[in-house]
Amino acid sequence: MSRKAGKLVVGNWKLHGSLAGNEALLGDLLASPVLSAPGVTAAVCVPFPYLAQCQARLSGQVLGFGAQDVSAHVNGAFTGEVAAQMIAEFGAKFVIVGHSERRAYHGETDASVAAKTLRVLDAGMTPIVCIGETLAEREAGETTAVVTRQLETVLAALTLEQAAKIVVAYEPVWAIGTGKTATSAQAQEVHAHLRSLLRAKGEAVVDVAVLYGGSVKPDNAAELFSMADVDGGLIGGAALKAADFLAICEAGLSR
Ligand code: 13P
Repeated sequence: MSRKAGKLVVGNWKLHGSLAGNEALLGDLLASPVLSAPGVTAAVCVPFPYLAQCQARLSGQVLGFGAQDVSAHVNGAFTGEVAAQMIAEFGAKFVIVGHSERRAYHGETDASVAAKTLRVLDAGMTPIVCIGETLAEREAGETTAVVTRQLETVLAALTLEQAAKIVVAYEPVWAIGTGKTATSAQAQEVHAHLRSLLRAKGEAVVDVAVLYGGSVKPDNAAELFSMADVDGGLIGGAALKAADFLAICEAGLSR
């Protein structure tokens, strides 16, 4: 997905929500004029059982929605898995793949993330491919090597046309849920490197949106979004409060 459309702000609800709570949160988000302003696109990625609620509540609205994971398989004997085509049937536009919590707790590998990315594209949705280094990797000076390996494995599995349709999210693991955000300079340094990897894949891919995630809050969003290669944010905790999520979207408006 091209960064030329403006900033993209996506809420990752993780393992949070209830039918009543979601109803209130989505209602508050839709009531705001911020989401209709040109220059920012917003979406929420919700637990699978809430896709139907999002379909009912968000069809035809300015707020997009999606899922947080997908099966690497199309169908078959894979108990508990959810296929991309099933998610697409609800009108979802986005699927997060390769989130660091899936990599850490569910054994996801670069190869499975690449397979999932293909399933999402085949189903006509936009994969938000998450990459990022751990604190130990950063301290060992391995940040560039890690994010290069993670992104290149996915890009190698895609045609140019497919690669142009993805979104990349750089989420340093040490900044997730810790309140410890990367400085805007740290984020920009990695984002500029990711941009060079996208350019190396082909000119058609250079404008793929690269989001930053990891303790993005209303008070640091504008600074992060002002960086040349930061095209929006993937928001965890702050996406659960309408006022905070809207303030972050607003910070994307003028950048
Ligand atoms: P926090 O914004 O809570 O740090 O989470 C970031 C994240 O993991 C988004 O996918």
